[in-house]
Amino acid sequence: MKNPFTLGLVSEDKFCNRRKEIKELKNYIKNSQNVVIYSPRRFGKTSLIKKVLKELKKENKNILPVYVDLFPVSSYRDLADLLSRAIISEVGKEINKSFIKKVKTLFKSVVPTFTIKPDGSFSISVSFSQNLETEIDTVLSDILQGFNSYINKNKLSAVLVLDEFQEITTLKESHKIEGIFRTNIQSHHNISYIFIGSRRRILLDMFTDKNRPFYKSSFLYELKKIPKEEFTVCIIKNFEKTKKECSPALAEKIYNLVEGYPYYVQKLSSVVWDLTNKRVSEKIISESINILINSEKADFENIWINLNNAEKAVLKTIAQHPNLQIYSKEFTKNSGLSIGGIQKAVKSLLTKDLIETKDKNYQITDPLMRLWLLKEFAG
Ligand SMILES: Nc1ncnc2c1ncn2[C@@H]1O[C@H](COP(=O)(O)OP(=O)(O)OP(=O)(O)O)[C@@H](O)[C@H]1O
Ligand SMILES: [Mg+2]
Repeated sequence: MKNPFTLGLVSEDKFCNRRKEIKELKNYIKNSQNVVIYSPRRFGKTSLIKKVLKELKKENKNILPVYVDLFPVSSYRDLADLLSRAIISEVGKEINKSFIKKVKTLFKSVVPTFTIKPDGSFSISVSFSQNLETEIDTVLSDILQGFNSYINKNKLSAVLVLDEFQEITTLKESHKIEGIFRTNIQSHHNISYIFIGSRRRILLDMFTDKNRPFYKSSFLYELKKIPKEEFTVCIIKNFEKTKKECSPALAEKIYNLVEGYPYYVQKLSSVVWDLTNKRVSEKIISESINILINSEKADFENIWINLNNAEKAVLKTIAQHPNLQIYSKEFTKNSGLSIGGIQKAVKSLLTKDLIETKDKNYQITDPLMRLWLLKEFAG
């Protein structure tokens, strides 16, 4: 039997619950509202939005869903390229007859080229009739306006998802790009823009800073963990489906050990599944959590070596003393840092999303990183 737990995008019967979120997001989209979806890494943002787009598309032929992953963006050209190609391929899907002709008139400054592959499918590449270095405004506005005109002309509505949107802040033209987006989206009444990101500070700063173009342009939507009652049911079912058994108490144990962090719930369940012959036991779970920590070790070490000493001291002290107030005397004593030193480290750890606020204090964002730190510094 194949391991039923997924570590990539989850879909179909692997997708656990999220009914409430699906309903809420569909409503925003149907009302052409703009939304920022944020959470730590690997909480299920991409899987969720892809499910929403799929369901919407099935329910309503007049909604055009466009999904763009901006993670690979390293230049303005990449942005224009990814965005225009995503729109063209979605619009192309909609039109059966003479779509090449129609797609060619979508934009003024983007020239698409299609290559038909031997299997009948096609790939799209684009070139630009404007000099991208000097004509940022023209090209990006043209892409956004061209899409909007197409939607309006054909009496459609659309949702444009920009995943890993915070990546545009790494481009040198980022302020200008934010401005162009803002100017355009506010006049697009039939398009819902969904901005997704896991670098929460960077993303939220874009939308909550009064001096930034996106200020008050979108609803802020925090994606939370999948509740315990729901996730444990999914875990138990996955074991059942593959002729193994996991009791509710042990499913809960799996969930609790990784504090319900979706990716780790799946990964820990996956390791447990591999080690289980017939029935999950406490012993298998303890063995599995160690295997899991070891498998993530290289990633944590990589993060660790890139931190300065103050950041390391703060992380270590939070891991070891989660209940200490961060600016208390004990914390300064344990970390060996001054209040000023702690403040500076906290600021940069928040930007890196390695810590997050909780009950007026701070905690380590990644529960497995905390377990790894405890193990490293034990004894
Ligand atoms: N609804 C769900 N049901 C079951 N598992 C889920 C669900 N959502 C997320 N997961 C688990 O979390 C993992 C990460 O999902 P996904 O890639 O969609 O998250 P993300 O928030 O987009 O991550 P990133 O921040 O890295 O882009 C999945 O591989 C899966 O293991
Ligand atoms: Mg994602």
